[in-house]
Amino acid sequence: MPTKVKLVEVGPRDGLQNEATPVATDVKIELINRLTDAGLPVVEATAFVSPKWVPQMADNAQVMAGIRRKPGVSYPVLVPNKKGLDAAIAAGAEEVVVFGAATESFSKRNTNCTIAEGLARFSQVCEEALAKGLKVRGDISVCLGCPYEGEVQPDAVVRVARELDAMGCYEITVADTIGVATPGKTRVVFEAVAKYIPVERLAGHFHDTYGQALANIYAALGCGVATLDSSVAGLGGCPYAKGATGNVATEDVMYMLNGLGIETGVDLHKLIAVGDYICGVLGRPTHSKAARALKAKARAGQ
Ligand code: HMG
Ligand code: MG
Repeated sequence: MPTKVKLVEVGPRDGLQNEATPVATDVKIELINRLTDAGLPVVEATAFVSPKWVPQMADNAQVMAGIRRKPGVSYPVLVPNKKGLDAAIAAGAEEVVVFGAATESFSKRNTNCTIAEGLARFSQVCEEALAKGLKVRGDISVCLGCPYEGEVQPDAVVRVARELDAMGCYEITVADTIGVATPGKTRVVFEAVAKYIPVERLAGHFHDTYGQALANIYAALGCGVATLDSSVAGLGGCPYAKGATGNVATEDVMYMLNGLGIETGVDLHKLIAVGDYICGVLGRPTHSKAARALKAKARAGQ
């Protein structure tokens, strides 16, 4: 088990990209600022993708211009191609995320290209981004199950991970896009990738559709994974994976990590207040069980 974990907050991007009604730019900015005030060291801020594909992220440049950049905090943004990279750089991004997939069907639905075509685009993005001094993270979707192809072989994940590594991605994220993984499978996939890429450079990204996310995270921690993506209040889903629920709630991950004595540098009570803020705006209750329980306890004066 690691003694410290880096939490990568993806709510403002992975969470809000999935909202049916548009969320005001000011709210996104306020959310990001509050998340960093709670101590989150990395907040995925937005995505420079096609506004026709994901209209929720169309205000990407305004979000980047409006946030208060806290020293020491990273604000990575998704970019699918050179056009996205150019726009991200113009908006002042210092870190970008390329996102591929372990299956052909998901690659086609999410980015309208084959896995190989996507990797060729990312290679161009990496080369240019690294030359300009940006950091590049690489995400791999559907590593533990695909909504179109079902079971995914660990080898398919390893192949994409090695390509992203060779391009210079400093961190590679193994994602359970539709939240179907179970802990045994999680362990197998992380162990397979870790044969080629040091585990310190791997991250886990779990959605909680089947209620397995914390168990999967525990399995990933057992493999030595020390970077975890999560989303405040469990916001989100994926527009190209129908039925997939949000990312695991950051509050729930923190409650577990605190119990395990693993440091994150994040203030859980402040984070719960951030969850209250965004849930208040969206007009819905939090998906975080830890937040609900701790608030009930506080109300009861215990
Ligand atoms: P395409 O339609 O094949 O692109 O989309 P194209 O190159 O043929 O261009 C078509 C139009 O899009 C053109 O405009 C381009 O300029 C424009 P038009 O001439 O028609 O007016 N365009 C862009 N505009 C803004 N920014 C850009 C951009 N690129 C082209 N970067 C494309 C291909 C990849 C662009 C599209 O499929 C796309 O944007 N996909 C993104 C989908 C997405 O954001 N999905 C959600 C994020 S991934 C995720 O959530 C998974 C993750 O959480 C991990 C996990 O859980 O698995 C990360
Ligand atoms: Mg996701």
